[in-house]
Amino acid sequence: MAYLTRRQFMGAATVAGSVGGVAWLQPTPSGAPHEPYFATLNHALHQAGIGTPTMVLDLVRMRHNADQVKQHVQGRIQLRLVNKSLPCLNLLHELSLLTGTQRQMVFSLPYLHLITQHKPQSDVLLGKPLPVAAAAHYYASRSVSGFEPAKQLQWLVDTPERLKQYSDLARAQQQTMRINIEIDVGLHRGGVPDLAAMQTMVQMIMAEPLLQWAGLMGYDAHTEKIPELIGLRQEARLHAAQTYKRFADYMQQSPLKGSPAGPTLNTGGSPSFRLHDGMGAANEVAVGSAMVKPTDFDTPLLSDFLPAAFIATPVLKTGPFVAPDGVEFFSRMASAWDANQRHSVFIYGGQWMAQPVSPEGLSASALIGKSSNQQILLGSGKQGLRPDDFVFLRPTQSEAVLQQFGDIAVYEHGRITDMWPVFPAQA
Ligand SMILES: Cc1ncc(COP(=O)(O)O)c(C=O)c1O
Repeated sequence: MAYLTRRQFMGAATVAGSVGGVAWLQPTPSGAPHEPYFATLNHALHQAGIGTPTMVLDLVRMRHNADQVKQHVQGRIQLRLVNKSLPCLNLLHELSLLTGTQRQMVFSLPYLHLITQHKPQSDVLLGKPLPVAAAAHYYASRSVSGFEPAKQLQWLVDTPERLKQYSDLARAQQQTMRINIEIDVGLHRGGVPDLAAMQTMVQMIMAEPLLQWAGLMGYDAHTEKIPELIGLRQEARLHAAQTYKRFADYMQQSPLKGSPAGPTLNTGGSPSFRLHDGMGAANEVAVGSAMVKPTDFDTPLLSDFLPAAFIATPVLKTGPFVAPDGVEFFSRMASAWDANQRHSVFIYGGQWMAQPVSPEGLSASALIGKSSNQQILLGSGKQGLRPDDFVFLRPTQSEAVLQQFGDIAVYEHGRITDMWPVFPAQA
């Protein structure tokens, strides 16, 4: 029997130790078949004869979210629906009824046409400053619907230069234009930065009788993305609130005060609307995405909201993970090391702004790029998927993504009950 020298023993022990250590790091197989919620949804989609990637809206969950919003705002602060995040007339209609608001925040010329034509009773505030050419286009081509821009529409204006352009347009068209002034409360995406610029704009509005001041808009959702670290988030919240108040107080003392009697003082956004209860300067919050809660909205103040929109896409093929000829070796290595890379699932479509959510334990391949045609997902095989089963993904955002799949499949109590057309994908 050969004995190890002390040195050999130490070397062997180190190797064994590191092999043991590495083995300890080796991923264990994870994943499971669809949990009951998604198994029922899978069944409902089959029952409805759906066989293509589809956006599913869980109406019951969405109503829960709308109720959370309503409970917060009711009797305290007004609510405006952010329609780029909910780009579907039926959806907006349902939410208007549930929350009792006709206020819409619109972000583009095509959607301004759409909303003012199909929801002529709406009170519309632009959520971004449109180039004056787009505003001129609106007046030139708007259809008759009963919507009265001079009473129901607030254009958003961010600089004295743009205000001058809008002033010239109002004069040229002999059109009363209501102006909401964007203020920068800390996001630095745009808006009036200081009281000097505000003073100039107040004077410009005073000088043009066709311009009417309608309110302020200060978007503050950035605060909820700031890490809580050493009080940074709290500081940003405070700064936003104080900045808003400074601008609102200024307007209150300006010659424009009282015109209108109740200006629209808009703030918020899904991540931050719960910071506002009508006790601060703002009297209105804008909310969109929270109604369906995509993954970007897994934020602290929305923890009791439920994900309500899912991409459902059929499985096309499943089998052992084998990379293409020439690099097969790498897939063998990956599978040998990681049990969660042993099984491949090819889905119909892919490369969406979304994350796989069910069945649990599927992820994109690090070896094979994403595909918009037939994306590969990898897993342990514990998911038990077969061709024609559905895989569910959660959008990272609702804006734009909700519009990528044609009509939205409305899901309610275990059944697909309706198909809702979406806004055309236009900027
Ligand atoms: C001005 C403004 N208000 C509010 C929102 C909030 O939208 P959501 O509630 O969908 O996050 C946005 C989003 O971009 C925005 O730009």
